[in-house]
Amino acid sequence: MLIKEAKPFYFRHARYLQKQLKMGLPPVGLTFEDVLVLPKHSNIPSRKDDSLNLKSHIAGDVYTNLPIITANMDTITEWQMSQEIALLGGVGVIHRYLTSEEQARQVKIVKDKTRTFQDQPFSVHPDTTVRDMRNLKKKQKTGYFLVQDTDNNLLGIITDRDLDSTDDDSTQGHLIMTPSDRLITVPEGTTLEEAEKVMKIKRIQKVPVLSSEGRVVGLFTQKDAQIARKFPNASKDNKGKLIVGAAVGVKDIEAEVERTYKLVEAGVDFIIIDIAHGDSENMMKMLRRLAKDRNINVPIIAGNIATGEAAKVLIGEGADGLKVGIGPGWACDTRIVAGVGRAQISAIASVAAVAVSNKITVIADGGMRNPGDLVKALIAGADIGMFGGMFAGTLETPGKLITKGKKKFKRYDGMASNSARIRARNSHQIIQTSGIYEDRYSDTEVDAEQDAPEGREKEVPLRGPVREVVVYLEGGLRSGMSYVNAHTISEIRKKGTFERITQAGANEQYGEVS
Ligand code: XMP
Repeated sequence: MLIKEAKPFYFRHARYLQKQLKMGLPPVGLTFEDVLVLPKHSNIPSRKDDSLNLKSHIAGDVYTNLPIITANMDTITEWQMSQEIALLGGVGVIHRYLTSEEQARQVKIVKDKTRTFQDQPFSVHPDTTVRDMRNLKKKQKTGYFLVQDTDNNLLGIITDRDLDSTDDDSTQGHLIMTPSDRLITVPEGTTLEEAEKVMKIKRIQKVPVLSSEGRVVGLFTQKDAQIARKFPNASKDNKGKLIVGAAVGVKDIEAEVERTYKLVEAGVDFIIIDIAHGDSENMMKMLRRLAKDRNINVPIIAGNIATGEAAKVLIGEGADGLKVGIGPGWACDTRIVAGVGRAQISAIASVAAVAVSNKITVIADGGMRNPGDLVKALIAGADIGMFGGMFAGTLETPGKLITKGKKKFKRYDGMASNSARIRARNSHQIIQTSGIYEDRYSDTEVDAEQDAPEGREKEVPLRGPVREVVVYLEGGLRSGMSYVNAHTISEIRKKGTFERITQAGANEQYGEVS
């Protein structure tokens, strides 16, 4: 007899919500604190077991090694955070309250941090002068130049030591380079590990890669090899470069398209069109524009939304991923101020019920305060979780350190808070017309100081490095997966089941005795 497999939670829960709404009855929405994950018989011996695979799908062909994204907020994610979180296996989304040039520059910094192989090594012609090379060195932040002729034949290499060997700035490169007949090279097809062995044996820092015709096709460096070894779980693209995302807005479409072009040129792996109410005409126009643009060859994620209906609309307009969450976040006041929102587990499930069958990814954004909440978000139908508050105050967040006596703090402000708005306006980061600027939390243009801001402002104690938060989140997730006998992220989504808890259950959970 065929045993029918139970449909996943998100499917059944979304159906329940819809049925109730159709009858005109307010359904019971669930959030993280309302439910517990039921344990299942498991063959996973420990949370550290090698059989657990935390590879996570962001959208399109972009994957990470952990289901963790840091939020595109100006107190959470700029290049330092993006770099560190990607080295640890997650990914960061650089916020959009920066000029497009600055945002693209930051994307490039992250992309340039690692590579298995430099496919476009820094190169100069043999007649380039020391003066020009010194200028290039500053601009490109490189410590070497390969000297090549116009056919890309390797003629030599110039390092800092060679540049320092002359006081005459007009000296040409070929006079100070180490010539190619004294250089160690490796053939095309050499792996990073093989190249590292050669560099170690020959005691060199760099080794050029040559085609069978002797043309330069790339370069391996000891530094790249060391980073690769130190961060084996880093989220990388197929060139060994870190994965990074960036956010764009919707208000001035052409300016935001220009921003997107710059980000794509800088190597961004995915774009998030980020507005508070994603189920809106403004979003549809922007999404349609980006999804149809052949110059934009990266996945487009749209949000935020909280319903299956919104998911259908955005998928119809070409979204590759959907960001879910109306007001669950630590710094969110939308539910208080506007009275609008949806309990986060119900929001994720409603969107997942539409997205999963369309092979579109779901990003659970906000409201996760503990590692267990990430486990619950995945079971509710998410592919990956986006975090702000859990990373607030870590060393890699942007913003000044605030010292009060012996204590140190950093800011964590909702993007719709007055402080965040004023910061954005003052740094000319938002499209600005005579003191009026685009705002994430309004469909109209607003003044910097609002009478009803939808974001909270906090000073949070300085915490340790991002690594500590990642270890905590990963440990909880691995444990949750082993309790449910799920080896992968998609398996936990299929297998996980919830039980609703009462206030007494919640008290028990936090060890409270009355
Ligand atoms: P957590 O809970 O991880 O949530 O801190 C991060 C998410 O919160 C959203 N966000 C806001 N929501 N008003 C809101 O209603 C705001 O001012 C605000 N700022 C950020 C955002 O989706 C983020 O990823």
